Amino acid sequence: MDGPSGTGKSTVSRRLALAGSAAYLDTGAMYRALTLAVLRADLEGSEPATESVALAAVPDLRSVVDPGAPRILLADEDVESEIRGPEVTAAVSAVSAVPAVRTALVERQRAIVSDALATEGGIVVEGRDIGSVVVPDAPLKVYLTASEQVRAARRGAQDRKAGRSADIGTVLADVRRRDRLDSTRKTSPLHAAADAVVLDTDDLSVDAVLEELLRLVRERGLLT
Ligand code: DC
Repeated sequence: MDGPSGTGKSTVSRRLALAGSAAYLDTGAMYRALTLAVLRADLEGSEPATESVALAAVPDLRSVVDPGAPRILLADEDVESEIRGPEVTAAVSAVSAVPAVRTALVERQRAIVSDALATEGGIVVEGRDIGSVVVPDAPLKVYLTASEQVRAARRGAQDRKAGRSADIGTVLADVRRRDRLDSTRKTSPLHAAADAVVLDTDDLSVDAVLEELLRLVRERGLLT
């Protein structure tokens, strides 16, 4: 499941995994947790230092792939809530653009997918490059999209629900900034894989998106 932020990816991916008794992996949380490690190391934005701090934190990451309670741990500390804050959100695109960081996380993500395929009823993986890079042979690739206004409104509502202030103009500017950075970076920029099903969620409720995903999953024989 790929697509920009605010398309409802996390919500529908979790619900799809629950419906299919599958595991769920939020790869954005992995980039966010490494970003938190970099921010905590209090660097001054120099690329080699960012890269080395982020890479050193990779072995400390642990993704809990339960769609009922997904979490990410950094050296056994649950950082699920802290990684959603504005500091990490502002810095994550830069960290996720570092090629060596991507290489290390893609390797981790593939290992988690293999493990889930061997032990669980499959896995729903969400991110930006899942269909294009991480699991190019996935039996179903979906690219969720929506207009930037709708995505900013959803992000704002999410922030307010989590108790963070959310001025809609600031949220829209952040959505645009991240779209630009994520789509123009050199390594694995955000784009729909050639064989992905593209779903525009502007006029679709979460239930309607889920219904369409379940239809696609059944059509491919992935859910009995
Ligand atoms: O999905 P999210 O907003 O939590 O993702 C956080 C950032 O991580 C986002 O700006 C892009 C990056 N990301 C990425 O480059 N590749 C992924 N597979 C997932 C996220």
